[in-house]
Amino acid sequence: MSAPVKKLFVKTYGCQMNVYDSERMTSALATRGYEATETAEDADLILLNTCHIREKAAEKVYSDIGRLRPLKAARPDLRIGVTGCVAQAEGGEILRRTPLVDLVVGPQAYHRLPGMLDRIGEGERPVDTDFPAEDKFDHLPEAPRARRAPTAFLTVQEGCDKFCAFCVVPYTRGAEVSRPAGRLLAEARDLVARGVAEITLLGQNVNAYRDENGETLAGLIGELAAIEGLERIRYTTSHPNDMGADLIAAHGAEPKLMPFLHLPVQSGSDRILKAMNRRHTAEQYLRLIERIRAARPDIALSGDFITGFPGETEADFAETLALVEAVNYAQAFSFAYSPRPGTPAAGREDLPREVKAERLRRLQELLGRQQAAFQASMVGRDLAVLVEKPGREPGQVAGKSPYLNAIQIDAGAETIGRVVRARVTASGRNSLFGDLLDAA
Ligand code: SAH
Ligand code: SF4
Ligand code: F3S
Repeated sequence: MSAPVKKLFVKTYGCQMNVYDSERMTSALATRGYEATETAEDADLILLNTCHIREKAAEKVYSDIGRLRPLKAARPDLRIGVTGCVAQAEGGEILRRTPLVDLVVGPQAYHRLPGMLDRIGEGERPVDTDFPAEDKFDHLPEAPRARRAPTAFLTVQEGCDKFCAFCVVPYTRGAEVSRPAGRLLAEARDLVARGVAEITLLGQNVNAYRDENGETLAGLIGELAAIEGLERIRYTTSHPNDMGADLIAAHGAEPKLMPFLHLPVQSGSDRILKAMNRRHTAEQYLRLIERIRAARPDIALSGDFITGFPGETEADFAETLALVEAVNYAQAFSFAYSPRPGTPAAGREDLPREVKAERLRRLQELLGRQQAAFQASMVGRDLAVLVEKPGREPGQVAGKSPYLNAIQIDAGAETIGRVVRARVTASGRNSLFGDLLDAA
């Protein structure tokens, strides 16, 4: 007789790596009799896969845990686990802060999760924030094959050795580790066999990828491109200092590598870049962009920015605006600086909240204009669109352009999972609209 099905609800916060980890944990727990559910109310196990990058993100986790109190009161056998970067940063402190949580496991110890669940059954509240030597993904079994969405993430590199002065990631994810290319190719082939047409390679510093045989990200991309049925390859997030010549060249040479690059710079002021420990100047970043554009002139660029880093003057901020003007971004993420415990910048004098917020508004206004102009520049063009899902209206499907524009096209659901050609007819608030030309 098979064991009764238990239900698992995973809530994912933060970056795409957490999305990937949540999928892997869900898949691994499926082999232990857990079925995924979309609502916390009917779950036997709730995992909050958390993010520690900014104060708001971390605080939200505690308020969300508090909101689970009535569920736990009604069903004392409900298990609640905290995973992800808050788990790594706060560890057992989470158990002291709230009695609702039964287990805490950091990002490098997920393969130990099934064993930890057994220990809860024995009355323990296990905590594991080790950085074990073994690769967790080798020990996280995949559930049997099922058809998947046309796009998937694949973590190829994890951790960060850069230690930007504001950032918790080197502490929460540990040192840079690259997974062996052979394993990644096998995983990619499996994803393609499940219907995946686009893979986004993930890493905190993905372009620093180098496996034990010396394989680089450019080499890995070349090998992935040979997989039949894999149509598109993307990667994120890159550090400017790891943008190797072979990777830049790949953007010009490999048609499956999409013309979109997320290359955070954080600030346009050399003084602030130095204080951030970014180890490059604004000029070096701009020269790098020139080289990338020489290899692939139509590449769409994206970035991350922080406003109001300690010591940032109005003149420093003006240099950030000037850099944004010079680059002309297709898309970007920008944040007000948030002091994070344990990071070097946390001890420095924080600028007033209003100053950070006001600069953020001005920066976002500029970035928003660039983004809208980039999107509008697509109108009238014929684009290859990977159709991902049903659209907003009946008779529409939604997909992405090579440049990562969201686009709605008038076409039937049979196009989902395929790359089709579409003529862009209009640019809306958050997406393009287009007509199906052919299902090339
Ligand atoms: N590894 C990636 C992403 C790191 S986190 C990279 O190096 O680019 C994503 C973004 O969050 C960062 O690029 C940065 O812009 C922002 N960020 C990180 N720490 C922050 C902090 N303490 N306050 C505000 N923004 C922060
Ligand atoms: Fe954080 Fe900097 Fe590492 Fe990116 S490169 S993860 S911002 S420390
Ligand atoms: Fe957040 Fe951790 Fe990702 S802090 S951004 S979930 S690496």
